[in-house]
Amino acid sequence: MEIPPLRKFEKTLQCKSDKSVTHRAVMFNAMLTGARATVENPLISEDTLSTVECMRRLGARIEVGGNEIRIINGGIRNNAELDCGNSGTTMRLLAGLLSGRVGKSFYLGGDASLSARPMKRVVEPLGKMGAKIECSGFPPLSISGAPLVGIDYEMPVKSAQVKSAILLAALNASGVTTVHESTKSRDHTEKMLAAMGADITVTDACVSIVGGAKLSPVNVRVCGDISSAAFLFALAAGMRGGRVTVKNVGINPTRTGIIDVLKAMGADVEIENRTDKVEPTADITVSGRVRKPVAVGGNIIPRLIDELPVIAVLTALCEGESVIKDAAELKVKESDRIAATVKLLKDLGVEAEQTDDGMRVFGKGYIEGGACADSMGDHRMAMAAAVAMSLSEKGGTLVGAQACAVSYPDFFEILTQ
Ligand code: S3P
Repeated sequence: MEIPPLRKFEKTLQCKSDKSVTHRAVMFNAMLTGARATVENPLISEDTLSTVECMRRLGARIEVGGNEIRIINGGIRNNAELDCGNSGTTMRLLAGLLSGRVGKSFYLGGDASLSARPMKRVVEPLGKMGAKIECSGFPPLSISGAPLVGIDYEMPVKSAQVKSAILLAALNASGVTTVHESTKSRDHTEKMLAAMGADITVTDACVSIVGGAKLSPVNVRVCGDISSAAFLFALAAGMRGGRVTVKNVGINPTRTGIIDVLKAMGADVEIENRTDKVEPTADITVSGRVRKPVAVGGNIIPRLIDELPVIAVLTALCEGESVIKDAAELKVKESDRIAATVKLLKDLGVEAEQTDDGMRVFGKGYIEGGACADSMGDHRMAMAAAVAMSLSEKGGTLVGAQACAVSYPDFFEILTQ
């Protein structure tokens, strides 16, 4: 796909719906026997449809259509072979959810990218709870449901998926499970389980859950995904005279690191019409071209982990050295996003180098472009590359643009309209 330089970007748009919240709203309702619930304004994308299909195979009746996903009759009834596609969230959360289903067995596989992603991080804590999971450290997983006991677990990696897997297993475990986190990762699971009636206690440093509580289904209206909005923010903030208003963006504080970084780079960010729902939302307007290099690292990383490739693109537009550190997790996303981002920047004429846990970008204040880049099947790399080419002098050619279907199927329509 040819991506020409974008000369103007002034738009008001609805935010694409949140992937993390949609996965959870579908999975947590569909796991409850006999549950009926509606997920309004869901993200319909390859990843979330992987979750829907897995829950159907497990025995839930689910309808998709009319900007809703309806759970008609929830329940985990079947032994099943499950295809998690490209979705780490589907596989890791299901591993927790299914481990305690005594007498049942499950096989979880995925595509080539997911098959290269680490699973020891979930298999190990679930094993401590008594789970019986066969796994080489990478997918597939073969799970034989077993009785589980609560654990006290200090998270070695900062990962909401791992935390969520443990909390879902804890629902079926005897006693109390406590998960300690040095930095809080996204907390959509805790919020949704609390709304469903789980016996859950959340503090800044840990989450405790008592097994065995009876949960009730909840109707969920899904907020916008700040990780998708980030690409639109970047288009506006990377261009003189650019401006975008994205409506109904989820502003859960565990997700809003991008706003802090945009401000630090010199962009103007206005937050209006805040709502105070379980997942708070707001309309966010970004304007004013970025210009100041930044150092991004430490506790902010889990709050913007998925936005780092597009943040790196913006650093190229700020004259001077920017650093991204403490982000080694990027290596085990849908692709090695440290290597992929540095390659993308270099291909487009930006000086950049990899470090052990991030990258250094030597911004010249502009991106030359005029080259070809491949998404390598990673949705966020496809969109980061498209943003970089759009903001460049010469544009570029993007191979593998369709990878965006995982989280933002109509992204390129916005770009070309
Ligand atoms: C997600 C958590 C993050 C994030 C991913 C979605 C979630 O992964 O990168 O896109 O929905 O829980 P980790 O938990 O592995 O950091």
